[in-house]
Amino acid sequence: MVGEESAGEEHPLWHQLMALSEFREPDQSGWTRRLFSSAYQRSRGWVREQMAAAGLGVRVDEIGNILGELPGRDPGLPQIVLGSHTDTVAGGGRFDGMVGLLAAVSVARELGRLGTRLRHPLLVADFLGEEPNRFGISCVGSRAAAGQLSESVLSLPDAEGVTLGSALQVLGAGAFPPPAWDRDRLHCYLELHIEQGRQLEQRGLELGVVSAIAGIHRAQLTFRGRPDHAGTTAMADRRDALAAAAEGILLVEEGASQGGTGVGTVGRLTVAPGASNVIPGEVVASVELRSADGDWLIERHRDLARSLAELGDRRKVEIELEWISAEAPTLCHPGVRRVLGDTLTGLGHPVAELVSGASHDAAHMARITPMGMLFIPSRDGRSHCPEEWTEPHQVLLGAEALLGAVRRMDAVDAL
Ligand code: HGY
Ligand code: MN
Ligand code: MN
Repeated sequence: MVGEESAGEEHPLWHQLMALSEFREPDQSGWTRRLFSSAYQRSRGWVREQMAAAGLGVRVDEIGNILGELPGRDPGLPQIVLGSHTDTVAGGGRFDGMVGLLAAVSVARELGRLGTRLRHPLLVADFLGEEPNRFGISCVGSRAAAGQLSESVLSLPDAEGVTLGSALQVLGAGAFPPPAWDRDRLHCYLELHIEQGRQLEQRGLELGVVSAIAGIHRAQLTFRGRPDHAGTTAMADRRDALAAAAEGILLVEEGASQGGTGVGTVGRLTVAPGASNVIPGEVVASVELRSADGDWLIERHRDLARSLAELGDRRKVEIELEWISAEAPTLCHPGVRRVLGDTLTGLGHPVAELVSGASHDAAHMARITPMGMLFIPSRDGRSHCPEEWTEPHQVLLGAEALLGAVRRMDAVDAL
């Protein structure tokens, strides 16, 4: 990275980042490339080509993760794994996930350019479907790697009753549930990612070491009232599912605002029958609670159930709160954090640690190997939107730090 004559926007890594962004769903805003879209499937062929061009031996595993391998001098040593994702949210940007995956590919390319052969084998993983999909499940590929893609998760239905497992088989996924990766063959997992928040920018920093990844509790909230004529039903006689949902959404916001250590969001809402002259009979809402404090999550979980039960009684609307997933907060490995800190020091940058409010494939990889993450800034903290932006020099700095961390991890045997 540093040695190459080009820097910033002329650098191959930046070009790749902009090229990957062009694989987008035409009918969506931003740079959208969701798991079940043809844009994402087309981009997977492009990613395989970039991995091969960087000297990686490429294969696709049973679930659909794209894996690029570089042999080490000592094949008996466990793998240093680098990875991230290349799918986006609807209306997403050009950096979330893509920076980490393409920087990992650039590490392999740079090692080849320098003629450096690591002791440990290197594995670069483009994990399938990191963003939450229509089944409510995120991190499909890294969940599979960690042995967490269970039958019950694969049986989750979408609104049409199609299961996640069958939808993945349409994409070419194989036998289920896929076996977990062999943890004895893994040395560590490192992921470079944009911060997607404001901390680095507010502290005037360009690199950060992640200390922990927030836990996420995801639920589906269903309000069942009674559809009635909008013109002939007196207000006192109504069992309006959407009015009840409106109160329920404010209960999520109110609960999440307690204590200042967590956040809560209702991001998706469907209303039936959805006619202007019918009192809504049923509303389905997505709920997300996030915090690095596991106790806070459990308390909010309990409070929300209690306040929604009171709401349902008062409004005579049936309210069902179904928890889909409950991921505890993930601590980054202290030994890996130390190596990442030394890497920043070696690059002349202060060592700043920060909690990630966003979740990542790293949270699942931490179940099977020592995990660490590096952050680079997001302008104005914006992400999951077309305004998502990180400066070219910051992308290159992140890739340089990732390369430095890999070389330091290669010199370490026991973590
Ligand atoms: O939702 C998240 O935290 C991540 O960006 N997928
Ligand atoms: Mn994301
Ligand atoms: Mn991401």
